[in-house]
Amino acid sequence: MKKITTLILTGLLAIPSFAKVPVYLDPTADIEARVEDALSRMTLEEKVKVLHAQSKFSAAGVPRLGIPELWTTDGPHGIRPEVMWDEWDQARWTNDSCIAFPALTCLAATWDPSLAYTYGKALGEEARYRKKDILLGPGVNIMRTPLNGRNFEYMGEDPYLASIMVVPYIQGLQSNGVAACVKHFALNNHEVNRHTTNVSLSDRALHEIYLPAFKAAVQKGGAWSLMGAYNLIGDQHLCHNDRMLMKILKGDWGFDGAVVSDWGGTHDTDEAIENGLDLEFGSWTDGLSNGASNAYDYYYLANPYLERLKSGQASEEVLNDKVRRVLRLAFRTTMDRNRPFGSFCSPEHSTAAREVGRKGIVLLKNDRKLLPLDPKSNIKVAVIGENAIKMMTVGGGSSSLKALYEISPLDGLREAFGPQAVVAYARGYVGDPTGEYNGVVSGQDLTETRSQAELTAEAVALARNSDVVIFVGGLNKASGQDCEDSDRASLGLPYGQDELIEALAAANKNIVVVNISGNPVAMPWLGKVRSVVQGWYLGSEAGHSLADVLTGKCNPSGKLPCTFYATLDQVGAHATGSYPGVKRADSDIVDCNYDEDIFVGYRWIDSHKQAPLFPFGHGLSYTTYKYGKPKASASAMTDAGTITITVPVKNIGSVAGSETVQLYISDIKSSLPRPEKELKGFEQIQLQPGAEGEVTFTISKEALEFYNPGVESMVAEPGKFKALIGASSGDIRQIVEFELRDGTLALCE
Ligand code: GLC
Repeated sequence: MKKITTLILTGLLAIPSFAKVPVYLDPTADIEARVEDALSRMTLEEKVKVLHAQSKFSAAGVPRLGIPELWTTDGPHGIRPEVMWDEWDQARWTNDSCIAFPALTCLAATWDPSLAYTYGKALGEEARYRKKDILLGPGVNIMRTPLNGRNFEYMGEDPYLASIMVVPYIQGLQSNGVAACVKHFALNNHEVNRHTTNVSLSDRALHEIYLPAFKAAVQKGGAWSLMGAYNLIGDQHLCHNDRMLMKILKGDWGFDGAVVSDWGGTHDTDEAIENGLDLEFGSWTDGLSNGASNAYDYYYLANPYLERLKSGQASEEVLNDKVRRVLRLAFRTTMDRNRPFGSFCSPEHSTAAREVGRKGIVLLKNDRKLLPLDPKSNIKVAVIGENAIKMMTVGGGSSSLKALYEISPLDGLREAFGPQAVVAYARGYVGDPTGEYNGVVSGQDLTETRSQAELTAEAVALARNSDVVIFVGGLNKASGQDCEDSDRASLGLPYGQDELIEALAAANKNIVVVNISGNPVAMPWLGKVRSVVQGWYLGSEAGHSLADVLTGKCNPSGKLPCTFYATLDQVGAHATGSYPGVKRADSDIVDCNYDEDIFVGYRWIDSHKQAPLFPFGHGLSYTTYKYGKPKASASAMTDAGTITITVPVKNIGSVAGSETVQLYISDIKSSLPRPEKELKGFEQIQLQPGAEGEVTFTISKEALEFYNPGVESMVAEPGKFKALIGASSGDIRQIVEFELRDGTLALCE
């Protein structure tokens, strides 16, 4: 044995020094040392080559040094199927059908940061298993208008809610060694004219409403990459915008990751060089059609950049900063030997999708406790509406997926009720009988030959002869109906659904309307239906999540991440006439001034004393929660001190449930106009029937701040404040007054 040991030791000692692993390949070396070592070994051509795409979704590595390519993938809700090298069309692989997770508006509606981590981790495992290094998501653009076609990809109207929910999603995702690419930075708040809209807005609106979620994603989530938006601010495209990328993102916020362009969002070489773009994707430059073999050499950050470097027009210092960011991205992902291997379509991912779905579903109305329906009863259930059967994971734009499976609401309900109940179906209306995106087809044949009158007659007859009606309608990710590159034309439901719902309600008063959408919709029939459920786009487990809630297997706990308006004139962007902007006479630029300023969503509702259908933060339960008298205390542990408020909550109903208690702060008197109240905290509490617990909020000075353009920073002004504790922004249960006096927080006597 000794002899063998000696031989091994001798052998080791004999390894020649030149075989020492170079620093950039040494997994134990500090990442920055690896970046510098790799940078020092790269040629000028290699440095330029890593800054732009080599195919539709990949960027070149450095083959000579063994630095791998970087592979990106859509999207925020699941891993996009493989496309051809330089096409949007399918590569027709047979191993890339994924689990489709619920849309991010649904995740936001859970108000559950731990679930956001679970979501991000599961999605990251799917991306990792598919060998992707950058996940093109999450999206955190604020819901400024309920017509925006991509709101379903985002986290609602409130910057605080989006800021809290995006961080764990990113942390979960990146725990797999897969980079988040937070998008679309910034002010991409509608889809109409998305490439040409030049946004103007106040610094307050920028810093108080539209940037906080991105800032949290970068500074708290540690996002490794970020995607520039298509639109413009200050007449400069966001993918190469000096103020947004150089001053704010990389300067003020200290972002050390890579800025990725949106696909086709790059328009100018000099701006792309000087204004912070690091990775260019999806460009078409001098008229080259997509697919041309040498198209990528003509990218703005390709040969044109190389020529400027060689002629001395562009500095290698700026180049090196870009390359460092791309290398850092590589060492955090594809060159991290210790990153996990991920997993794909696992039972755990299905469970996560089902959990996010059922915790995100919002019970909006439930008169006479029509819900939950007893699955053991032998009731006759009429399920009516195209959305009860239509696949929703296909369509909507770049977040479209090839799902391994999708449980429809009808399938989920039939499974939940079992054979003893009669669950009959009628289509009721024809929405979008197609089901295809970029060559991924739903496989459903929804062609329809009957007239609307015939469909209505069939549905009404079924409703009349049933004990309960579940209407499943809403939008469907078709163009103009919650879809990328298009906005809705109105707040109302399409395809004649309003009339149909009225007819069904007249035929059977026990009607539940399930709205499947990523946006609020008008509900002129609201007073005629017993129950309304906001269903969101729920992904592969849609039918299971929905049936779990409708049958009471899961007590709904979702809360709206956005206001459900009665009409568009309750929306600042529309009441001011700001949306969608005005086209310039002499160019294709559309100027859109955010005239409602900071008054977005419930902030506008409150300031204009409007009565929406359902307020931001609203969500009912099958039980009832009573909020007791809060206890408040002030402590001077930190420099400005904190106010701690403890609120007793009691479940006075008959079923266990989870309640999200919300904290809004109201600045009684301020030197600048402020919203009546703003969300600054939320806590969830699970309670058995009859049980009482408490939630605690700790208020620091940051919760009082607003952006003061005069000093270009967030400030908290002395004076009195109110802490409003509520079950929604429209249901304040308790109030605690406190003040900021001489720089310290104190309770009001
Ligand atoms: C699209 C979208 C972006 C997506 C990218 C790649 O145009 O704006 O969200 O990730 O291009 O598909």
